[in-house]
Amino acid sequence: MTQATQRVLTGITTTGTPHLGNYVGAIRPAIAASRAPNTESFFFLADYHALIKCDDPARVERSRMEIAAIWLAAGLDPAKVTIYRQSDVPEVTELNWLITCVTAKGLMNRAHAYKAATDINEAAGVDIDHGITMGLFCYPVLMAADILMFNAHKVPVGKDQVQHIEMARDIAQRFNHLYGAGKELFVLPEAIVDEDVPLLPGLDGRKMSKSYDNVIPLFNGGAKGLKEAVARIVTDSRLPGEPKDPDSNSLIAIFNAFATPEQTAAFRAELVGGLGWGEAKQKLLAAIEAEIGPMRAEYDALMADPARIEAAMQVGAARARAIAQPLLQELRAAVGLRSFRAPVAAKTVESAKAALPVFKQYREADGRFYFKLTAADGRVLLQSEGFEQGKDAGQWVGKLKREGAAALAGAPVTLTDSATQDEVATALAAFAEA
Ligand code: TRP
Repeated sequence: MTQATQRVLTGITTTGTPHLGNYVGAIRPAIAASRAPNTESFFFLADYHALIKCDDPARVERSRMEIAAIWLAAGLDPAKVTIYRQSDVPEVTELNWLITCVTAKGLMNRAHAYKAATDINEAAGVDIDHGITMGLFCYPVLMAADILMFNAHKVPVGKDQVQHIEMARDIAQRFNHLYGAGKELFVLPEAIVDEDVPLLPGLDGRKMSKSYDNVIPLFNGGAKGLKEAVARIVTDSRLPGEPKDPDSNSLIAIFNAFATPEQTAAFRAELVGGLGWGEAKQKLLAAIEAEIGPMRAEYDALMADPARIEAAMQVGAARARAIAQPLLQELRAAVGLRSFRAPVAAKTVESAKAALPVFKQYREADGRFYFKLTAADGRVLLQSEGFEQGKDAGQWVGKLKREGAAALAGAPVTLTDSATQDEVATALAAFAEA
């Protein structure tokens, strides 16, 4: 038996420009994971999420284009993976509302990002919701919509996002319970936190982060920018020929991210043997450049021709919507938003002349699934027992419809007082004929 395809979905908020640390820690592993067998990958630019954090349109615009170009240049193939902008898939925001209506406000009150903001306000002695938008408060719901819209099984994220995935699970479960009638409308997603990918240290040895101003750029600034950044890596003042402590700065850790373990061991030995820091930086630069250089050329070509990036995004949006639209239709129907032409509604219009008996399936407060057969005049003829599984109720309905009165003998149903055997047999026969 072949393993079922797993859907893996990754989103990135488009407010900044990824640096080398983001490449090593998130972009590269995600692209590698997308090449795994039995995997269907979804990569999207969370540009609606960007609006929560950033009200500078120029920055959002630049960031989403840069990130799209980075993904393409780093090797994502839009023909194999689905890569799209969140804002190109309006189904996501529609789903956002459907699930907002089943999400407990209390659940959102507990979201880390919101709590952190209210804690700061509390400490400052201002209203706890000071400066907090509904966007921030509802951030996890939109994120759940991103994930549930594509029924993703796995969501690779950083530790700070795990709570959001758990919230998406909660929301999915609640929606399934309320509206699924025994069917799993949504897959329950799982967070994947990759512990093996080390954090890349920055120029000064602390975690690489824009807030520390210690980043090595990925593509921006070109080969020259990369070279200048590497030159700024902080080392001690030991001279060439003096033995070096390879762990006294970030050189080795960054080298390791672009080399085999054997190459790293050899580099380490050279440093202990007296390799000068200047030469060591040359070697580090060469190692990074070997991997990044060809990607940078493609990145520059893409950024010089934004129409090519746009075309790739359009392909992705079409693929994404082809999946999102049918699911959204099903969800709309599940919550009661159906076309007035659909059979359920049509019945009330046509019932005057051609009323028919009907089977109704439903779920009771006891959590069990039931069905009943009602006559054209609305009287209940048959009442089923409760089933643990909705599909078992469905199977009995199918059997009764196909086989008619012959199936009654073993069926877990009771005849109601107002119904006669003949009446039930006639009603069932109507289904077999139809
Ligand atoms: N919140 C994520 C972050 O800041 C980005 C994101 C938005 C996301 N929607 C998502 C990630 C859905 C995974 C799945 O990193």
